[in-house]
Amino acid sequence: MRKKIGIMTTGGDCSGLNTVIQRLIDGCRLRKWDIIGIQDGTDGLYANPAKTIDLTNDVFQFASSHLAGSILSNGHDGVMNFEAAAHAGKLSAFNKRLQKSLKDLNLDAMVLIGGNGSLSLAHTYNEIYSGLQLVCIPKTMDLDIPLTDKTIGFDTAVQQLSYYAEQLSLIARSHHRWFVIQAMGRACGSLALHAGVAVGADAILIPEVKFDVDNLVKHIKQSKRDYGIIMVSEAISIRGHSGKPADMISRALSAANIPNRTSFSEHLQRTGDTTASDRILAMGFADTALKAIENNETNVMTALQNGEYKTVSLSDFFNAGRKVKDPNIVGVMTSNRYVEPDDVLLQIATDMGIYIGEKRK
Ligand code: F6P
Repeated sequence: MRKKIGIMTTGGDCSGLNTVIQRLIDGCRLRKWDIIGIQDGTDGLYANPAKTIDLTNDVFQFASSHLAGSILSNGHDGVMNFEAAAHAGKLSAFNKRLQKSLKDLNLDAMVLIGGNGSLSLAHTYNEIYSGLQLVCIPKTMDLDIPLTDKTIGFDTAVQQLSYYAEQLSLIARSHHRWFVIQAMGRACGSLALHAGVAVGADAILIPEVKFDVDNLVKHIKQSKRDYGIIMVSEAISIRGHSGKPADMISRALSAANIPNRTSFSEHLQRTGDTTASDRILAMGFADTALKAIENNETNVMTALQNGEYKTVSLSDFFNAGRKVKDPNIVGVMTSNRYVEPDDVLLQIATDMGIYIGEKRK
């Protein structure tokens, strides 16, 4: 049966979105389905009429689907979106408008490519998607989505941060200084952990493991080297100190006469050519999402578990994570995943002499 599919990218972008979009277009063409893209995420869906682009005829140059960003765009800062609507006390009207836009578009299914915030909202305000099949594809550079071993964008972010750290380690040596590098990742330490291990950092500090600054200093001094990399997650804190995490650690090192500089690669971590691993994942998730639509599934998320592509229900996704308050929407919870205490990389890092902290939280 000919179907009409809508796709949308929401939340912070990451590399790999264009590959998923391209693969969804390829898969729809194969099935002779129509496919439209919602532009600017929920901003575009809120617009009247909704901002859409016909994707049935390929809009991509073949060579560009590996580039970072989203050809559909993810939305503007500060316009009408879930946060702004909640802030203005107009969430219910906002949700109704999204629901009406989807109805007007006459879609059979919507593929929502989003992070844990977007997926949690899709679960919580599920009525928005009533009357159509909702299939979500997990993307985030933070790897903080429960029930899937991989998320689109994480591998490329690890690659970007590792490249950046490696370049800095070269000049750290020539100036006999340490670089404290701050990794993104929101509340989850996965990006710092993976990139730190990838470059053989001397220390990796993440929110999931308690650390002691005096022991970090001791570790650096005992290394008998005068240069190296300290990888710090943006989510760590030190009681009684304020400011950016990398700056806090830098000040502690300076106080112990360890020459150092801080470095923030910020959104460069979110860009970069999509790695082969993320492109393969994009292909797997696009295929899984389209098959889920064929099987009449709804309210599901694609997932990779122990090498197997599958779907899991949005409610299982939501229930599996640790629930934290959405910082921007009162009363809404987000389902989060963190580095688990038994994560094999924690043990490997410790065994390989990397200072990773004292005790798993
Ligand atoms: O969730 C993705 C992410 O890049 C986080 O790692 C980071 O904390 C945040 O988004 C940055 O958001 P913004 O682009 O709004 O500065």
